[in-house]
Amino acid sequence: MVNVEKFIENAVNEIREAAGNGNVVMALSGGVDSSVCAALGAKAIGERLKPIYVDTGLMRKGETERIRTLFADLDLQITDAGDEFFDALRGVTDPEEKRKVIGELFIRIFEREARRTDAKHLLQGTIYPDRIESEGGIKSHHNVGGMPLHIEFEKVIEPLRDLYKDEVREIAGGLGLPVEIQHRMPFPGPGLAVRVIGEVTREKIEVVREANAIVEEELIERYRPWQCLAAVLGLGTGVKGDVRLHGWIIAVRAVHSTDAMTAEPLVLPFETLERMASRITADIAGVSRVVYDVTPKPPATIEYE
Ligand code: XMP
Repeated sequence: MVNVEKFIENAVNEIREAAGNGNVVMALSGGVDSSVCAALGAKAIGERLKPIYVDTGLMRKGETERIRTLFADLDLQITDAGDEFFDALRGVTDPEEKRKVIGELFIRIFEREARRTDAKHLLQGTIYPDRIESEGGIKSHHNVGGMPLHIEFEKVIEPLRDLYKDEVREIAGGLGLPVEIQHRMPFPGPGLAVRVIGEVTREKIEVVREANAIVEEELIERYRPWQCLAAVLGLGTGVKGDVRLHGWIIAVRAVHSTDAMTAEPLVLPFETLERMASRITADIAGVSRVVYDVTPKPPATIEYE
C-alpha cells in the first residue's frame, strides 16, 4: 500500500521538475488513471497542463458532458472526432482490425491536437499492469497509456507507473476527486465499439449506448458489480406492437473480478433481469430481445470483441 500524501507530494514534485517551464500535454479519458494524472498535473503546473479529451463518438451516454463538468477548472480541450471514427470504421468487421483502426486514429488525432498546445512534454497515466500487459502482448490494448506518438517530446512523465489500480483509487481519494471517479468501473479504450459484434455503425452505437446506460442504472448501485455492460449481438426476429420486427439482440453482462484476468457472472434476481429486459425493449425502438450472459472468463472474455 502506498502512503497517499507522500505519493502525491513526490508526484507533484516529479511533474514540476520534469516540466521545467514548458507546457505538458496529456490525454484525459475520464477514467480513474487519467483523472488522477490530470489532478496531479494541475496541482504541479496549473495552466501549463494541456489536457485533451477526444470524443470518439464511441463513449458512454453523457460522458462528454460529464467530463466537461468534472474538469471545469482545467483548461480542457474537447475534440469532437465522431465523424472521423465512424468513417474509419466503415466496413471493418474483424475485432483486432477494429481495435487497430481505433487505436491508430486516436493517436493521429491526439498528435494533431497536441501539436497545437506547444507542449514540450507528455504526461501519461500508465499504471503497472499496463506495462506488464503490453509487454505480454495479450491483445492489442488500445490504452492511452504508452501510446506510440510521432511527436518528439523531451520527456514522457508517468507518475503512476508503479501503482496498481486500487492504489490509484486511493490516490484519487487523497486528491479529493469525486467518489464517482474513484470507484468508476473499467471502460475499454476502444469504447462501445467492442460491445458491437461486426461492423460499427451509428445505429448500433446509439442502441448499445442506451442499453449500457440502462444496465448501469439497474446494476451499479444495487449490486456493485466489478463491471457491467450491454452488447449488440446482431439481428433476430421479434414482434413489437403486433408487427414482426427484425430487431437487435442485446446481451447483458455483469461480472465479479479482481484483476480482469478471470471473472464470474453475477447471480442476479430474476426480477432484475426481467426489469432490464423490459426497459431495454421498451425504451430502445430497434431492440426485440435481451439475453443474460452467464459465462465465466475464461472461456469468454468480459467484452464481446
Ligand atoms: P476482456 O474483454 O479482455 O477485458 O476480458 C478485460 C478488461 O479489460 C478491459 N479492456 C480494455 N481496456 N483498452 C483498455 O484500456 C482495451 O483495449 C481494452 N479491452 C478490454 C475490459 O473492459 C475489461 O475490464
